[in-house]
Amino acid sequence: MPCKSEAEQGQQPAVHRPVMVREVLEYLACQPGQVVVDATVGSGGHAEAILERIGPEGRLIGIDRDPEAIERARERLSRHGRVTLINDNYARLEVILDELRVGAVDGVLLDCGASLEQLTTGRRGFSFRLDGPLDMRMDPGLETTAADLINTLPEEELVRIFREYGGERRARRIARAVAAARQQQPITTTAQLAATITAAIPPRARPRRLHAATKSFMALRIVVNDELGALHEALDAAIHRTRPRGRIVVLTYHSLEGGATKGAYRRARARRQCPPSPSGEGPRVRILTKRAVKPSDEEIRENPRARSAILRAAERL
Ligand SMILES: C[S@@+](CC[C@H](N)C(=O)[O-])C[C@H]1O[C@@H](n2cnc3c(N)ncnc32)[C@H](O)[C@@H]1O
Repeated sequence: MPCKSEAEQGQQPAVHRPVMVREVLEYLACQPGQVVVDATVGSGGHAEAILERIGPEGRLIGIDRDPEAIERARERLSRHGRVTLINDNYARLEVILDELRVGAVDGVLLDCGASLEQLTTGRRGFSFRLDGPLDMRMDPGLETTAADLINTLPEEELVRIFREYGGERRARRIARAVAAARQQQPITTTAQLAATITAAIPPRARPRRLHAATKSFMALRIVVNDELGALHEALDAAIHRTRPRGRIVVLTYHSLEGGATKGAYRRARARRQCPPSPSGEGPRVRILTKRAVKPSDEEIRENPRARSAILRAAERL
């Protein structure tokens, strides 16, 4: 099916529904008066629920690298006092807290990936269903767009990206088709790329439930935003800056994010956390979710986008 513009679809970008709110609150174990960081504040859904728990004496620090998200969060959360919103990359969590003169916090929430607003706003360039510029930058200040990568990277590098970050089995075919198409004319829109990818996969081999471009688009998004690099940094920073008995809660949506989270928790459990403390040892955590926690069937029925979510939580010792 060809991509449509938002106007053609008569669509307003959808409003993000926060995922697993009950479970997030349970594992964050927020108490009145606490200081909590929502490092992916988005439209403020989780943040609002946290604010209700920490009360007027508590403080919420909300971070998002997308300035449009910060504006939405500001609108939603403005009636609450003690909210500080920061438009920055959560990879810089330690610097952000230093600049706010906040030493240790009681909890950190990371709700990884893109928001529904990002994914369903054509002009942001994340969507294979809505036409728009091939952009995909969560932070519009980033230099490199998805179009830059698609039009300049060697074919072999595209194969690696589609395979490694998207788990795309047909990465080679797709990269070959992209390389051929860009020789005719640069690929500058999401519709062009979605059509090129779809045409590269024979109809019988196309996935039944997913759009043929789903995995390649996700792979590009991860690379454009260096999502895994940022997550590694943020996890270590969160573990480092959470005070003893404080909680770190992470919601992930694919196995690479999940693996990074498990790795960071396990390293910290074994005191191999970086950066190490002056004594040569890093801060320790206890992993609270021996098994990954998933959304209930009811939540998935009401919000199918929640289906891939997995929650992992740890407590600072
Ligand atoms: C799944 S949404 C969060 C939704 C939010 N929990 C809510 O209730 O509305 C993920 C958000 O994280 C932001 N984000 C992703 N990577 C980030 C990073 N490295 N630093 C800061 N924000 C990031 C995205 O811009 C997006 O707004």
